[in-house]
Amino acid sequence: MKNKVLIGIFTLLLFACGSGEEKKEEKESMNSRDEIRLKQYQVQGAKVYATYCANCHQQDGKGLASLYPPLAGADYLLENLPRAACIIKNGQSKEIVVNGVTYNQMMPGNPITNLEVAEVLTYIGNAWGNEAGLVGVKDVDKWLEECED
Ligand code: HEC
Repeated sequence: MKNKVLIGIFTLLLFACGSGEEKKEEKESMNSRDEIRLKQYQVQGAKVYATYCANCHQQDGKGLASLYPPLAGADYLLENLPRAACIIKNGQSKEIVVNGVTYNQMMPGNPITNLEVAEVLTYIGNAWGNEAGLVGVKDVDKWLEECED
């Protein structure tokens, strides 16, 4: 009887430790999946950026004079990624202040998929010293449904 209880406890312990380990492994492989996705998005996003954005915001992300705001180190971009996703997809024309400078120009919308929005946002969010991390397409899907216009 005593033995059975001991075996029972032992089995429980084994089970508890085992499932803890599994969870840890699951978490680690999630993280490395995210890291791989971050790199993929950055590579794809760089292509989207070169095609659709660099003309105005420039290859170095510094923008152009009082016409095009910067993306490198841009407080306006980094403080609100959902808003940035909406601007990238739908364009925007109103007065905004980026890093203390006022811009009031027209940015046209872009004919790109939600995935491309996530990729280019991941690219500009992690280029030129920016450190926003991975921007997933599921988040972008949700954000784009909630754009103010
Ligand atoms: C025709 C020029 C043009 C193109 C092309 C363009 N933008 Fe813009 N972008 C602007 C202008 C002008 C503004 C400021 C709009 C305003 O005053 O409301 C702006 C604003 C922004 C902002 C918010 C302000 C900031 O600096 O944080 C982001 C983010 C942005 N653009 C990203 C992009 C991305 C990414 C692309 C490519 C998919 C792109 N833009 C393509 C001209 C452009």
